[in-house]
Amino acid sequence: MTNPLRAAPDVRLQRIAGPCGIVLFGITGDLSKRKILPALYDLANRGLLPPSFSIIGVVRSPRENMLQTIEESIRNGAKTTVTDTTLKQVLSGVRIVVGAFDDPHTYAELGTTLDDVDSKRGTAGNFAFYLAIPPELFPTVLNGIGEAGLHQVTENTWRRVVIEKPFGHDLASAQALNDVVTRVFPADSVFRIDHYLGKETVQNILALRFANELYEPVWNSSHVDHVQITMAEDIGIGSRGGYYDGIGATRDIIQNHLLQLLALTAMEEPTSFSAHALQIEKEKILEATHFFGPVGESAVRAQYTEGWQGGRWVDAYREERGIPHDSMTDTYGALALGIETRRWSGVPFYLRAGKRLGRRVSEIAIVFKYPPFLPFPSTDGLGQNTLVIHVQPNEGVTFNVGSKVPGSSMRLRDITMDFAYGHAFTEYAPEPYERLILDVLLGEPPLFPQQKEIELSWKIIDQAEQAWAQSPETLDTYAPGSWGPRSADAMLRRFGHSWRRP
Ligand code: BG6
Repeated sequence: MTNPLRAAPDVRLQRIAGPCGIVLFGITGDLSKRKILPALYDLANRGLLPPSFSIIGVVRSPRENMLQTIEESIRNGAKTTVTDTTLKQVLSGVRIVVGAFDDPHTYAELGTTLDDVDSKRGTAGNFAFYLAIPPELFPTVLNGIGEAGLHQVTENTWRRVVIEKPFGHDLASAQALNDVVTRVFPADSVFRIDHYLGKETVQNILALRFANELYEPVWNSSHVDHVQITMAEDIGIGSRGGYYDGIGATRDIIQNHLLQLLALTAMEEPTSFSAHALQIEKEKILEATHFFGPVGESAVRAQYTEGWQGGRWVDAYREERGIPHDSMTDTYGALALGIETRRWSGVPFYLRAGKRLGRRVSEIAIVFKYPPFLPFPSTDGLGQNTLVIHVQPNEGVTFNVGSKVPGSSMRLRDITMDFAYGHAFTEYAPEPYERLILDVLLGEPPLFPQQKEIELSWKIIDQAEQAWAQSPETLDTYAPGSWGPRSADAMLRRFGHSWRRP
């Protein structure tokens, strides 16, 4: 049969940014050094930024050797080869503005600098303001930009704002922050970053589901037993205590990355891949998501203790630099959620995220039901069919299925069908920040969560956080290098399941 498929022509095959620049608040911070600056270099190196591209860093106090620091960040973090030519091109577009974030003079000077790069480098008035700064500074900086009129556009120019997660601390603060943002920037100029949506494996969830005939007929409560979404890290909190304490794993990871993964896994087919069509379907899922049982029995949080991990002794969370000895912040969170729709009613979605766990792994496991009847003399060795989307590392998809063991008897065993990106594709896979920053510069919003999704996610998380605040004694502990606290195992047992060992 010939391929009867028809697709709309892609008019955006050449995804190259036009004249523009980026204003980076927090250029000396960890995120800029590790992710944003290397991503900008990689984009430039791949020819996706115009030669006039400029990076305007805003710093609170004068720093020596800024260009050297930027170069080091690029050399340490770039994915593509660092060449003198591209490095020189990128560094020649760097300008630094020094001033307090709450001082109007800082924004006046920033305005003068933007005019200057426009005339000297040809950025054509187009700028993205990237807020890679602690969340408590968002309102100050947004007001500064607004009062100085730096958000204002003339015909054929654009100004956009990029806001790092977490967007708010709970529902009320997310709404308040949105009021501040949208007082300055129109809604379609606001890009809220969730870097998980920039990962190839995460975008592939939709390709896997909607470009194939195989999965959709079984993608529902008649065939799916339960779903496990895991984001495990083996590192501790390191030098990020100032940011992390008071936020914790549930707000840092589950509220955004994992609920987005849940929405992509569970949503109906969108009518197109426009931001609007995707948003409609994700919202429907988040709106229908609730705790699988009473909140107190469907939500667990814990902190790592001291202990051995990877052959070395590591400190307990409460002993880490900058963390109060009585901190109640969770370094592990796990939720049992359900989705009240015809497709999903009755199927638990288990979400867990934590630091200092057994190893670094993010995955989505769709665990199917056992067949209703098995005409085999023995079914020992036969597990449930499980489709695992390996978000990272070892990016790919595996499918566990039962198979006959070679030999003269009908013995069964699970085998794995594998798709590994490394084997299947030779194409360059951009880092999430590369992909998302380019989308901002091109003004393409499909991979950015919209405000309503963020608010719906907070509505879920707020219930867990409120239950925990009322019962401080429920804060459990777990050993470094383990797979989390006993209470998380007990939670799954109550629902008749157990955690996978990724
Ligand atoms: C960030 C969190 O969003 O994701 C960090 O704030 C976490 O705490 C990081 O370490 C992990 O990202 P990735 O892409 O390495 O899974």
